[in-house]
Amino acid sequence: MEILALISEMMFDSHINNDIRIRKATRKVVHLIGSRLKPHPIPDAALDADIAILGKKGRGKTFTAKGLVERLLQMQRRVLVLDPLSVWWGLKSAADGKSPGFPIPVFGGPHADIPLHDAAGPIIAELIVSTGTSAVLDMGQMRKAEQARLVADLLDHLFTRNRDALWLVLEEADAFAPQQPMGDLTRVLGEVDRIARRGRNFGFRLISITQRPAKLNKDVLTQLSTLIAMGVTSPQDRDAVKAWVDGNADRDQARKVYDSLAKLPVGEGWIWAPDHDLLDRVKFPQIRTLDTSKTPQAGDTRITAPVLASADLAKITKQIEAIQATQDGKAKRPAAAKPSLVPVQAIPASRPKVVTATAPYQLGAAILAARRAAGLSQTELAAKLKTAQANIARLEKTGSIPSTSTLQRVAKATGHKLTITFTRA
Ligand SMILES: Nc1ncnc2c1ncn2[C@@H]1O[C@H](COP(=O)(O)OP(=O)(O)O)[C@@H](O)[C@H]1O
Ligand SMILES: [Mg+2]
Repeated sequence: MEILALISEMMFDSHINNDIRIRKATRKVVHLIGSRLKPHPIPDAALDADIAILGKKGRGKTFTAKGLVERLLQMQRRVLVLDPLSVWWGLKSAADGKSPGFPIPVFGGPHADIPLHDAAGPIIAELIVSTGTSAVLDMGQMRKAEQARLVADLLDHLFTRNRDALWLVLEEADAFAPQQPMGDLTRVLGEVDRIARRGRNFGFRLISITQRPAKLNKDVLTQLSTLIAMGVTSPQDRDAVKAWVDGNADRDQARKVYDSLAKLPVGEGWIWAPDHDLLDRVKFPQIRTLDTSKTPQAGDTRITAPVLASADLAKITKQIEAIQATQDGKAKRPAAAKPSLVPVQAIPASRPKVVTATAPYQLGAAILAARRAAGLSQTELAAKLKTAQANIARLEKTGSIPSTSTLQRVAKATGHKLTITFTRA
């Protein structure tokens, strides 16, 4: 009943300009639909914590972490993913590859919006701090020493400047925070350790993923407040999990977890959040964005050219240029001759004929894709709709819930026909 009332309240929204009442109502609907139809094994409150995801290769760590990040992005939280494996760009596409996912900028890697280099740490950090954007740093094509420099500079600058909630995802956390650091990694470990110990007051929340819990620095591991333990078989790694569990639970509970670790199937794990009195063995749900590490099964059609959401690269370029100018001005030495951070391409090469949103949170990305496909800037589309550019920017944000009439006007202005499909669940 409550949902119906709220939906009818939303129906009156016939303007692009969202008024506060309607925004509140839509948020409530999304929340209700979200919570009634898709309860997630990890409650929202437990997301607001430092989380470690441990498990052997292929057991579903990245998959599980992506599920959490999708929820955070949907809640308009800021997330920065440090990805040395080139697996996180899939956030930009829907699970079936047929429609766009989250329009967040991807720096570096095979699907870069903006190329990445080892001197870019302070600039990207400042971009995140000053604009509140989320981002993926795909470091898969960089050498280890370059990754180390990039990450150490980035985290150093973030620690100094960041004061708002920021979720930092460390894919392969043991590579950034090893138990026995050598060379360049000593500085990286220092930065991760500082954030793990003192970052919470400055807004940091860490999501650390590792397949070698025994190799993850103990000082970092013991700071974590929520543990997700997936299948682990080697005795050293099981002992690392045990060490954490022993300090946080009674012996019977610890034994139960420890004994089942070796046998956990893919996608299953223990969630342990002592602060929330939560200890549960669960199967994690499917993700809504593209699964880039999927092992193709016989009969599967491989997704070769997924439709990718794209961030507002023109705007980001301007922001980067401004930051670069300020930082160059402050530098004592002249800036080294480094490639600047220029978008790979302002407009995607392939312009999709069909733009699909399969969930409410994708509507913003779908509008953006429709506008891009029409070759219009936000200002140009705004002019066609007789509204301000800022309203188009708002419409294209993840989580915007435009009215049907707004969608219709956008469709018309971008040369599309609007189709709404009910599919039997
Ligand atoms: N909860 C899950 N439900 C369904 N499939 C899953 C789940 N978790 C993982 N998988 C499948 O297993 C594959 C490997 O998972 P992944 O997260 O990449 O493993 P890891 O990061 O632990 O090496 C995924 O690509 C996915 O196809
Ligand atoms: Mg992985």
